[in-house]
Amino acid sequence: MKKITKAVFPVGGMGTRFLPATKSIPKEMLPIIDKPLIQYAVEEAIEAGITTLIFITSASKHAISDHFDPKPLLREKFFKEGKQHLLDKLHTIPNEITRVFVPQGEPLGLGHAVLQAKEIVGDEYFAVILADDFIKPNGNNATSQLIKAAIEKNTSIISVEQVDNERVSQYGIVDIGEAVGSINEIQTIVEKPKLADAPSNLGVIGRYVLSPEIFDLLETTQSDKGGEIQLTDALAQLLHKPKNLYAATLDAKRYDCGHKLGYVQATIDCALEDVQIGNKVSNFIKQL
Ligand code: G1P
Repeated sequence: MKKITKAVFPVGGMGTRFLPATKSIPKEMLPIIDKPLIQYAVEEAIEAGITTLIFITSASKHAISDHFDPKPLLREKFFKEGKQHLLDKLHTIPNEITRVFVPQGEPLGLGHAVLQAKEIVGDEYFAVILADDFIKPNGNNATSQLIKAAIEKNTSIISVEQVDNERVSQYGIVDIGEAVGSINEIQTIVEKPKLADAPSNLGVIGRYVLSPEIFDLLETTQSDKGGEIQLTDALAQLLHKPKNLYAATLDAKRYDCGHKLGYVQATIDCALEDVQIGNKVSNFIKQL
């Protein structure tokens, strides 16, 4: 397998669970303390060796490209004022990293978003990173772990985690049969099943390393009842060959920041560890 250097960030969704905050900004711009979710995801990708960032965006929301703009005027102002701590905060994407913004047109689902990256990705394995699956940056880089696992198995691989019964219908769910270790072949994958129909409680979380074969499958994947093309439905078609799709349980602390509860939990966890405010937040919580 060639080195994996491209990552797709689908950021064109409507973010309905966070309205009204998401009327004019994508949910991926919501901050955990002072850094937006998308920046955590981008930093994870770059640390994992990704050199081309492909953002699949909504035409009406420009906040993400604005966020990663080098901001020369602000930079000059802070430089003149000698405010190095503020200059440091402006530093986001190194110059040698390529960024590409592809408008999704209509928000027709995660599969449709990923398909928009076809021409830029070409005939290579690539990563997909859903920034609203926030993975706490604590040294165990989730994307690196997944890339390593994909290289080891020489095929597509997605990250999974046990989810509570009441959340099963909000995730792609996989069946891996009798698990051996942390990387297992997927036998079945289904998008957001009812609990009664779910093959297990193993939910797909937002880190994928995929073969370019997925693009051809996405092109012929039918829309679901809601008119969306689901990535999960295309992944299910990868199962036509044995050893073509694996699931990995990562060593990572992840919060589902696509939902209010996960977002608040992530914020509290990070606030408690923040060097400036951690103790005060802890005292505050105790006296609530
Ligand atoms: C998407 C995928 C789903 C996956 C989830 C992970 O759903 O369709 O299979 O389990 O991301 O966060 P969404 O959260 O966009 O509804």
